[in-house]
Amino acid sequence: MNALPSPDVTANTTGPVDAVLVMGVAGCGKTSVGEELARRLGWQFLEGDAFHPPENIAKMSAGIPLEDSDRWGWLDTIAAHIALAREARAPVVVSCSALKRRYRERLGAGGTRVLFVHLHGSRETIHARMALRTGHFMPANLLDSQFAALEPLESGELGIVCDIDATPAEIAARVAALVAPAA
Ligand SMILES: Nc1ncnc2c1ncn2[C@@H]1O[C@H](COP(=O)(O)OP(=O)(O)OP(=O)(O)O)[C@@H](O)[C@H]1O
Ligand SMILES: [Mg+2]
Repeated sequence: MNALPSPDVTANTTGPVDAVLVMGVAGCGKTSVGEELARRLGWQFLEGDAFHPPENIAKMSAGIPLEDSDRWGWLDTIAAHIALAREARAPVVVSCSALKRRYRERLGAGGTRVLFVHLHGSRETIHARMALRTGHFMPANLLDSQFAALEPLESGELGIVCDIDATPAEIAARVAALVAPAA
């Protein structure tokens, strides 16, 4: 365990990575924090939702939770982009819910080094933020199933848990300090 840079960020392991993947339940701030983080690091940002096939988006829009069988192809597409980033030596920031350990393992298939950043917050906080958001395909009533599905990072995983009780810019700054420590 490394020294803690702030009380609400806990680091498991650091070192060079091929991708930082911002994870967590719907509405926790993956896109907001991921975009800030990518800007700060000067890395490309990949929106995980953009890789969903139309069938998955139709299901989610209808309030139907995805099955694992819906997810494997989507996760493999994201993993392939991370593998390309490794080949190009151009690490990326990715947003993807990655709620279960087996999904995270699939995302790092092929031995890429993926640092998972779990944005952690209460159901109440996230629900309130989602209620304010418009024009997004994830309805707030899927939040309960998201919390039920969430498997927190385990000790063997390369990961950081980060509280969402700060602005996206502040959260991104904390994560960036771990990913690329000052020389
Ligand atoms: N740290 C934060 N503080 C305050 N508001 C935030 C924070 N992070 C995100 N938000 C707001 O909460 C809402 C959800 O954020 P965002 O879309 O980034 O979440 P997400 O995890 O990408 O959601 P989804 O899983 O649906 O893609 C947005 O309206 C965003 O502006
Ligand atoms: Mg998002």
